[in-house]
Amino acid sequence: MRRIGTVPRGGARAAVPARWGKDIERVLIPQDRIARCIRAMSRDIQRDFTDRELVVVALLNGTVPFLADLIRQLSLPLRLDFIGVSSYGAETHSGQLVFTKELRLGVRGRDVLLVDDILDTGKTLSRVLAKLQALEPRRIRTCVLLNKAARRIENIQADYVGFEIPDLFVVGYGLDFAERYRNLPFVGVLRPEAYDAAGAGTGGVRQTADPDSRGPFVAAPNVISVTVRFYSCFKDMAGCSQTRETLPERSTLGQLLKTMAVRFPGLGPMEQSTMMAVGLDYQDRSYVLQEGDEVSLFPPVQGG
Ligand code: PRP
Repeated sequence: MRRIGTVPRGGARAAVPARWGKDIERVLIPQDRIARCIRAMSRDIQRDFTDRELVVVALLNGTVPFLADLIRQLSLPLRLDFIGVSSYGAETHSGQLVFTKELRLGVRGRDVLLVDDILDTGKTLSRVLAKLQALEPRRIRTCVLLNKAARRIENIQADYVGFEIPDLFVVGYGLDFAERYRNLPFVGVLRPEAYDAAGAGTGGVRQTADPDSRGPFVAAPNVISVTVRFYSCFKDMAGCSQTRETLPERSTLGQLLKTMAVRFPGLGPMEQSTMMAVGLDYQDRSYVLQEGDEVSLFPPVQGG
C-alpha cells in the first residue's frame, strides 16, 4: 500500500468558509492539500501502469470529484466506466449493498484501476473487487482518497491511499450526509447537530441517510436485477447475446424494453413488435418483473 498523507483529528488550520459554517465544524483536508495528494497519487499510478492501457472503474456516487481530478492528472491511455453501488440499511455494520449500475466495458485481460472515495468498513470495496476479479482482468489495483482504518470489518486495504483519516463524520469532496455536501471543495467534519437533527446518532453511522425519506437510515427505493437474452437478429443489433439489467422494483416488461432501447439504440425500431418471454411463458408489456427473472427477446417471425 502506498499512502500519501495522514490527517490528525484536529484537521487543518484552514477556516471553514462562512457559507458552510453552520453545518461544518472544521476543515479536515483543505482543497490545496487534496490537489497535491492527487498529483502524488497519479505519479505513482502512472509509474505502475507505464505503457499499459487502463480501464478505470469508479464507484458511484461519491467518487465523482476525486475521479474527475485524478484522471485529468493521468497521462495514460484509459477508458472509464462506473459501477453503481450503495449501502442501504440501518446501522453501520448491517447495511446491504445494492448494485444500481453494472459495468459495461469488458475487463478480461485488462489492467483495471478501481477508484472509490473512501474505504471504511471495506464491505463495498471487497464485494466489488470480488465481482471484478471474477471477470479475469490481467491486473487490478485499488485507489481510494480516504482510508478510515479504525472502522474496518473486511480484511482489505487499498493499493493507493490518499489520506489516513480518524473515525470522524466527514463530508465534502464527494462524501455526503443525506446526499448533501458532496459539492464542498474540501473534506470537512460535520457538526453533530447536523446529523443529530436527522436522528442519525454518532459519527459511527454510515453516511447515506436521507432524512427526507421514510426515516434517517431507512433509505432508498429498491432495485431488482434481471437477465435479458437476445435471440436471432436482436443478438447482432445488441452486439451481445445477453445482458443483466438493474431496474426499480415493480418495473414492467414495457419499461424494461424502453431501457433496452436506450442502451442498445439498434433495438429501438423493434420496440413495438418485440416478443417477450419470461422463463418459459410469453408475457405482455404489463408483466411486473421480479428479482432474478430471465427475459428472452425475439424479433417477430417474418411473414408470421
Ligand atoms: C460510500 C463510499 C464508499 C463506501 C465505503 O458509499 O462512497 O463506496 O461508502 O464504505 P464501506 O467501506 O463501509 O463499504 P455509499 O454507499 O455511501 O454511496 P455514495 O458513494 O453514493 O455516497
